[in-house]
Amino acid sequence: MENITYHDYKPATLSFRDAVIAGLSGECKSIPPKFFYDERGSKLFDRICEQPEYYPPLVERKMLSQLADEIASLTGTRRVLIEPGAGNATKVRLLLDALRPAAFVPMDISFDYLKSTARELAREYSWLPVRAVCVDFTHSMPIPEQTPEGQRLLFFPGSSLGNFDPDDAGDYLSLVRNTVGDNGMLLIGVDTRKSKSLLDAAYNDAAGITAEFNLNLLHRMRKELGMDCNPENFRHRAFYNSEAGRIEMHLVSRHKQELRLNGHCFNFEAGESLHTENSYKYTPEEFILMASRSGFRDVRHWVDRDGLFAIYLLESTGSGPIDS
Ligand code: AVJ
Repeated sequence: MENITYHDYKPATLSFRDAVIAGLSGECKSIPPKFFYDERGSKLFDRICEQPEYYPPLVERKMLSQLADEIASLTGTRRVLIEPGAGNATKVRLLLDALRPAAFVPMDISFDYLKSTARELAREYSWLPVRAVCVDFTHSMPIPEQTPEGQRLLFFPGSSLGNFDPDDAGDYLSLVRNTVGDNGMLLIGVDTRKSKSLLDAAYNDAAGITAEFNLNLLHRMRKELGMDCNPENFRHRAFYNSEAGRIEMHLVSRHKQELRLNGHCFNFEAGESLHTENSYKYTPEEFILMASRSGFRDVRHWVDRDGLFAIYLLESTGSGPIDS
């Protein structure tokens, strides 16, 4: 018998329609990156992760498999392991045998994805209780009551933190701190600041998959909202803004056009951009300072030999929940 329970916390999030109307109404047009991930978008992201220019998944996987035993020696075994945005949970598999957690709590916004991931994991790791939580983890991370007691370890790979603006990233780390509690730990993968040429290439792969991923937002607006937007009327633009320390992705209007939705009319000038994503990069010093303000101290961190990617093991400081 598989040891799985499911917990659905129906998220009260902004609908795609509301987000598009709000995002196109402002002076600077923008739509949050979480709306990239419909079924086609998730598949395109998986393909981005196979592009040679997009180094993070490759480097992080290699680091995790090499570091698994060292990480386990610092965390100990029998922790409750939590992964927000677990998706297909491929990276955590590199750690499970070494960490031997008391339970695994994957969280994801897509219940279907979560169910198949939980089933596969429970089949592969018959000793592992899985408590699958359907939730928008950016707002809350409820741990089901049926979860075994134990010190907690939250795993947040893939530089997912990069999508938050720095203030929000600090707030999210405070939420993580409260979720793991006293003696809790955080294992997090964060992309580093590096040369503009490497970063520009990583978000402009030669095969055009990142462009297709970005333009998919327009496919989605057309398909789900019935908007008259043709992806061919926009072009993909991604570049490293080194002052801000972030990749910016935009959809640039190829000419003057109007998009209509629910009686609203949105005007695009030729060359006007719709900002679709920020992906912040941090030096170890910047990241550790931000984490310390959210109630974590650096236990140990690792940067690969080319300085492309960093993994941090952090531990809660102080005691009692911290108000964020
Ligand atoms: C999933 C947010 C970590 O910022 O690198 C990849 C998303 N966008 N290529 C990133 C993404 C374009 C990715 N994160």
